[in-house]
Amino acid sequence: MITNDLELTKIFLDNEYIIGLPTETVYGLAGNIYSEKAIKSIFELKGRPLYNPLIVHLKHKNALSAVAQNIPDSAYRLSEKFWPGPVTLILPKRSSISDLITAGKPTVAVRVPNHEKALALLDLLDYPLAAPSANPFGSISPTTSEHVHDYFGRSLPIILEGGSCTKGIESTIVGFDNNRPIIYRLGSLSVEEIEDHLGMRLLTTLKNSGVPEAPGMLSKHYSPRTPLLLTNDLNLLMEHQAHKKIGVLSFGNERLDYTHEHHLVLSSEENLDEAASKLYAALHQLDQLQLDVIVAKLFPDAGLGATINDRLQRAAKP
Ligand code: TXA
Ligand code: MG
Repeated sequence: MITNDLELTKIFLDNEYIIGLPTETVYGLAGNIYSEKAIKSIFELKGRPLYNPLIVHLKHKNALSAVAQNIPDSAYRLSEKFWPGPVTLILPKRSSISDLITAGKPTVAVRVPNHEKALALLDLLDYPLAAPSANPFGSISPTTSEHVHDYFGRSLPIILEGGSCTKGIESTIVGFDNNRPIIYRLGSLSVEEIEDHLGMRLLTTLKNSGVPEAPGMLSKHYSPRTPLLLTNDLNLLMEHQAHKKIGVLSFGNERLDYTHEHHLVLSSEENLDEAASKLYAALHQLDQLQLDVIVAKLFPDAGLGATINDRLQRAAKP
């Protein structure tokens, strides 16, 4: 059931059930961080491997010291500037945070979501919420309550209605080596904004070929069922796919040699925020159309363009 009722949602959570939670980035599958039953149901319903830890969602940055300790100064500076907002910090955990949530790691991922409904709900609760994105493992993250409902149906008794996610792509994940920030996952907050605020370059773990620091950063992820091909030249690519049923995804109004009924333009004004907010919904929409292939044009590789390209590249892995 999709509901606007915060009190009803609280009753489910207090009784150790999990719920669909709207945030500004994507919808989450949320449960009480102190309920083993709820946390286990999250992994089970999502089909998520237990080695992949969850993000803890707080109602306010003041609550950080209840879940994390030995917090570096640069982490405080990010939380002061960007919370509530789409940046997740990886910090040494307190012993009260279970190994199930952190997948046995000594660190916990934390953020304060910037969403009125989510904050109102968290404010009613006596505990923070652990939540991964509300999609089955490996598929596209949901940016509307309908997406969540389509994925889980009755197995998820309650989804809190929160409209379309305004950011539309997951949070940016930042860890720390002492005080030195390290980017674990590109996301809705651009690397440039973080670096400008801290006056430091972010170190990166992203290009390493070994075991990823954030276990969820498996190279294939966020995938539609329809094959996705990426290009810098849509016309050239489409020439080779001309006999197929094609869906087209582009940043702005591309001039195409062929007319295509299934061409989604993410932002006719070429605004990156708008394009990011519409990306997953567009992939969901094209994926419903029983097409042979979706072709997408790569974005300019800076700011949120880099985040969008990261998600397109993961979605395109065969
Ligand atoms: O925007 C978001 O971050 C959304 C909304 C619901 O808040 N959540 C989200 O969660 O994207 P999820 O579980 O799909 O992605 C969380 C990522 C995973 O890649 C996980 O491996 C990483 O965070 N992560 C969590 N705890 C970690 C830790 N202690 N160390 C390293 N990576 C961690
Ligand atoms: Mg996810």
